Amino acid sequence: MTESSLLKQALHSVISGQLRAAKDPYRPGWHLAPTVGLLNDPNGFIQHNGRYHLFYQWNPLACAHGAKFWGHWSSSDLVRWRHEPVALVPSEAFESHGCYSGSAVADNGQLTLIYTGNVKYSQGRRTAFQCLARENAAGQFDKEGPVMGLPDGYTGHVRDPKVWRKGEHWYMVLGAQDLNLKGKVLLLRSPDLQHWELLGEIAGTGLNGLGEFGYMWECPDLFTLDDHEVLICCPQGLAAQSDRYLNTFQSGYFVGQLDYDKADFQHGDFSELDLGFEFYAPQTTHTDDGRRLLIAWMGVPDGDELFQPTVQNGWIHTLTCPRELELNSGKIIQRPARELQQLRGPQEAWQGIARDAPVWDIKHAEIELETGHPFEADFGGCLLLQWEGEWLRLTRKNRRTGLSEQRVWRGALRKLTIMCDSSSIEIFINDGSAVMSSRYFPVLPAQLIFRGDRQITLRYWPLADCV
Ligand code: FRU
Repeated sequence: MTESSLLKQALHSVISGQLRAAKDPYRPGWHLAPTVGLLNDPNGFIQHNGRYHLFYQWNPLACAHGAKFWGHWSSSDLVRWRHEPVALVPSEAFESHGCYSGSAVADNGQLTLIYTGNVKYSQGRRTAFQCLARENAAGQFDKEGPVMGLPDGYTGHVRDPKVWRKGEHWYMVLGAQDLNLKGKVLLLRSPDLQHWELLGEIAGTGLNGLGEFGYMWECPDLFTLDDHEVLICCPQGLAAQSDRYLNTFQSGYFVGQLDYDKADFQHGDFSELDLGFEFYAPQTTHTDDGRRLLIAWMGVPDGDELFQPTVQNGWIHTLTCPRELELNSGKIIQRPARELQQLRGPQEAWQGIARDAPVWDIKHAEIELETGHPFEADFGGCLLLQWEGEWLRLTRKNRRTGLSEQRVWRGALRKLTIMCDSSSIEIFINDGSAVMSSRYFPVLPAQLIFRGDRQITLRYWPLADCV
């Protein structure tokens, strides 16, 4: 289909569906969500000429995965976002089944997107191209087409380029599946973004002491934090363990040292980035003031799209809040980006026995809770957080199976920072040493009720709407 006919369809979908979607009671007040249709991965996250740009995988035509567009937002402060014209439309043969995920760089000052052109054939066959598009004076993106086809030794599952500059060269990490159907991350180098040389596999099943570790790794990201290299990736096909790898697909990281020339990444164990029900495909960027920010999709591929009530109103999924990353003893610490404090209304403080606490309005709110004692927190009658002295348990009913499911964290709890929006919760444990992110659809009006006969200390802020 031509670009203009795809854009016409998208426009029709937005114009006819946006009012209904905007009125949805589960529409976020301060998280990013698609105007209509389906959003998944954040893409092309960058601070460029002082302004943040955030692109996203978007199917404007349905609440289902399909031929993906790149939507585009920008912001001066990570809080108030502006819609920009659609950046990429899957109109060409080399991207016929989607302008899939990728990243953005400033190439001689020009905002440049590197993304995967996804092509599917009959009988499940597929290929992928890594493609370039450059911003023009009108703020639109001119496609330059593929700069790379499939490398030898891999299936059609090669995608999600994350590109950065180091010294004289551009580098890229790519998610891949080898011919033995094992997931890998590839490292490539280029002098000009056009010509790419494969340096080697830097992580994956069978490498660096890692045993069987999934059949495909998606959305890699590699960056330096506190003198170490961190590789974020999303392995698919890990078997669930009692308290790990409980979502359909995982998202986590390795910390180590990368020898760029040898493509040798000596790394430690894989750690999950988030322990909640919905978190996938994170992407990071470096800010002008020296921070590393992360934003992720608050969803999981092959999740329960059919069972999310927002689908009735023509939209589905949100992103997480932007988070600041630090490395502490080899572990990533995540905290809500400091800019989000601008959303805080007047603070209320409360201390006492948990069951005597007032009922809190959690439509859009931030709650800081300090306790070393057992308690139970009921979010909107459908999400239960329990601290029992060793395990923190988050319980939710699975809408598909009707069964209760749990996500857990184990340790000594001191403090929780809970960021609530109309249909999501992000729970930062002990100043961000672990996080649980989840969508939920509370009984309205959304309220938080505490139970338990031990003391808790709370600070509460209502958060302003900003999207
Ligand atoms: C991850 C992912 C990527 C792909 C994109 C397609 O959620 O499957 O690997 O590029 O989504 O929308």
